[in-house]
Amino acid sequence: FKTLDDLDMDGKIVLTRVDLNVPVENGQVTDTTRIEKIVPTIKAIQERGGIPVLMAHFDRPKGQRVDSMSLKQVVPALEKALGQKVEFADEAVGGPAKRAVAALKPGDVLLLENTRFYPGEEENDPTFAASLAALGEVYVNDAFSAAHRAHASTEGVARLMPAAAGLLMEAELKALDAALGNPERPVVALVGGAKVSTKLDLLGNLVEKVDHLIIGGGMANTFLAAKGAEIGKSLAERDMTDTALEIMAKAEAANCQIHLPIDVVVAKEFKANAPHEILPDEECPQDAMILDAGPETVDAIRGVFEACRTLLWNGPLGAFEIPPFDAGTNAAARAAADLTREGRLISVAGGGDTVAALNKAGVAGDFTFISTAGGAFLEWMEGKELPGVAALEDA
Ligand code: 3PG
Repeated sequence: FKTLDDLDMDGKIVLTRVDLNVPVENGQVTDTTRIEKIVPTIKAIQERGGIPVLMAHFDRPKGQRVDSMSLKQVVPALEKALGQKVEFADEAVGGPAKRAVAALKPGDVLLLENTRFYPGEEENDPTFAASLAALGEVYVNDAFSAAHRAHASTEGVARLMPAAAGLLMEAELKALDAALGNPERPVVALVGGAKVSTKLDLLGNLVEKVDHLIIGGGMANTFLAAKGAEIGKSLAERDMTDTALEIMAKAEAANCQIHLPIDVVVAKEFKANAPHEILPDEECPQDAMILDAGPETVDAIRGVFEACRTLLWNGPLGAFEIPPFDAGTNAAARAAADLTREGRLISVAGGGDTVAALNKAGVAGDFTFISTAGGAFLEWMEGKELPGVAALEDA
């Protein structure tokens, strides 16, 4: 795919797809990570003489204007991150958008209203894509985290004008390639989270690509049950045990070693600081539930990390939202962070809860790369082609 240096943008309007789908409470952005990550691309476009016109979605308004989902509410946070005024257009296409673009001068930045206010966005309607494309002269996509959507602003527009990846998109793709596409081996993937059913394709894809697969979180309980362990009233999908066995068989055939908990932290209640005990993996009492990986498991995980060159991390090991059941996730995260700092491990993490868990452990800054993507990261781990990336590759 092309990068910023491949596009002639001097004096041109650069239609730039970014991800501004940030958490907002009472009209205030509560986490500005995604906003900060697009700043270098916006500045780089300006340095090359281009005028960035930002295009993004917010939440899921389903093709209608929903006032509480207006992108206007992220303007102050964007202005703060950029250190400059940001113009805002109340529409993403049509007269008001065209007039806002026509009024721009070099050095300006314009943000268009939520593209998902228009049904044509998610339908990837060619007419809507053409109205977006009509606003600018070249296109930059810096929204890796929305690249799993084949929408007009992520896919359609890329096929209508000269298109390139922004700096964040480029960094995301490079990191992912280093983790799974063309990694230094051995590679270990740590996959946690609640359900096997939502990560089936992901596990199926990973066992063919990684040397070690560590399974944690609620998902591990389903695997333990499949092996005949007593898991009491732990969160698990009992109808998925055959699937778990199939994944284990597939892993064995592919020479991928699966690591399940050896010991577990169990409690009778799902509640912060609930009385708990550490037991061997197969001994959870009938009236208790597994809420975290135990210390022996964490030691074993550290050992696997030490033996590997590359780590791909998705999902927490236990109920990381409630102490002390965050201990396993925190300790494993610290081990990965230490090895990364010592230059012994390339660590890449991403997907929904993962970043929150690593931030909570206070080690996110030590990882080699943390993706801004949730759903897109998972689809990439499943081995799927991301339409937004494919359109850039074809450009
Ligand atoms: C995200 O927040 O993961 C992306 O912005 C995509 O949002 P979506 O899941 O609503 O398409």
